[in-house]
Amino acid sequence: QTGYSTLDTGFVNTAATKSAITYIDGDQGILRYRGYPIEQVAANSTFLETAWLLIYGELPTADELASFDERIRRHTLLHEDLRRFFDALPATAHPMSVLSSAVGALSTFYEDTTDVHDPEQIELQTIRLLAKLPVIAAYAHKKSLGQAFLYPDNSLSFVDNFLKLNFGTMAEPYVVNPVLSKALERLLILHEDHEQNASTSTVRLVGSTEANMYSSISAGISALYGPLHGGANEAVLKMLADIRDSGQGVARFVERVKNKEEGVKLMGFGHRVYKNYDPRAKLVKESADEVLAALGVKDELLDIALELEQVALSDEYFISRRLYPNVDFYTGIIYKAMGFPPRMFTVLFAIGRLPGWIAHWREMNLDKATKIGRPQQLYVGSPARDWPTDH
Ligand code: SDX
Repeated sequence: QTGYSTLDTGFVNTAATKSAITYIDGDQGILRYRGYPIEQVAANSTFLETAWLLIYGELPTADELASFDERIRRHTLLHEDLRRFFDALPATAHPMSVLSSAVGALSTFYEDTTDVHDPEQIELQTIRLLAKLPVIAAYAHKKSLGQAFLYPDNSLSFVDNFLKLNFGTMAEPYVVNPVLSKALERLLILHEDHEQNASTSTVRLVGSTEANMYSSISAGISALYGPLHGGANEAVLKMLADIRDSGQGVARFVERVKNKEEGVKLMGFGHRVYKNYDPRAKLVKESADEVLAALGVKDELLDIALELEQVALSDEYFISRRLYPNVDFYTGIIYKAMGFPPRMFTVLFAIGRLPGWIAHWREMNLDKATKIGRPQQLYVGSPARDWPTDH
């Protein structure tokens, strides 16, 4: 848009950060990636095509997409010393801690971080992160299982390469499962960007200091880890299992939420921006039934989630607070059906969100007018006073 600079960069000292990447209308439940409604993107695109759209602003030509895919495949191998980094970790390490540490370490392995405004270095970091984050994630998963790491198989698509790294073993050939591939592709697309959420704002704030892209995104991964943000998808599964295992039932649990019992929240519900149904949650819920049926999985946690949603959406407490299911409410049930352990759910969120983080970091740093971020403060402390003479 002319005269509408998206590059006031970072945290401008006015009410809002300007960006041209994603638009959300929380009241209407609208989400658009570079102007395209999320429903149409999820129905027609692939993870890498959507990543290109978010990062470069327009849909790629067939040649551009093929070359993007090819460059990413060529960078899937991790530096052998980075593979050894995992040997130092305990098998109990949470994969999100592993992810933020390993991504931060990428800047020690590659020389492409000396000039954060250099377009060539920015391009190289973009490709390296998209190629290597899924591999790092799969190695964190394998480490927790005590299983041997596989090497990437570049004859496979982006999503199938990732699935093979997680579920393939050294003992037998990996068979691509199109149901898994299609379901994961769609879920990753739904997570690719969400304007100024906590983790993206973190990436922008760190990036606005001219820290390199790897370090900025490592900080974003740490922000996403929290249960109020990306960690909610893992917390939802725990909540549903607690309702099942405690025998308390949905109605009793909802009462405990309404009584604001310590630490009892309806995880996967509520949103700072959406005061209507999160359009992504609607799409995930639609595919939950389809994916579980196609995988031949019957999960009573899905039945509990559906009952929980029905009870909450007819209860004045939630209606008056405009609390609806968000993107995290149903995703964990599908990830679990795919075979991922709950501790990997937020890692899958991070892989999905990576293109958005990259797009926002680039939106700031490809223009030399980057202003360092400095969120405003409202001082509410003591007025000026003198030091006590007797102290
Ligand atoms: C994500 O920002 C993004 O875009 C994030 C995200 C993305 O794509 O990047 O969409 C991904 O993080 C989704 C949100 C995942 N988190 C959860 O599901 C955790 C559970 N949700 C809540 O913690 C909460 O809803 C937040 C953190 C998501 C939003 O909090 P807000 O907007 O600050 O809302 P609030 O805390 O001011 O709550 C308003 C009222 C309060 O009640 P009262 O004090 O008015 O009596 O609603 C209540 C809250 O107690 N409330 C909830 C609730 N969420 C809010 N009560 C029970 N369960 C909940 N989940």
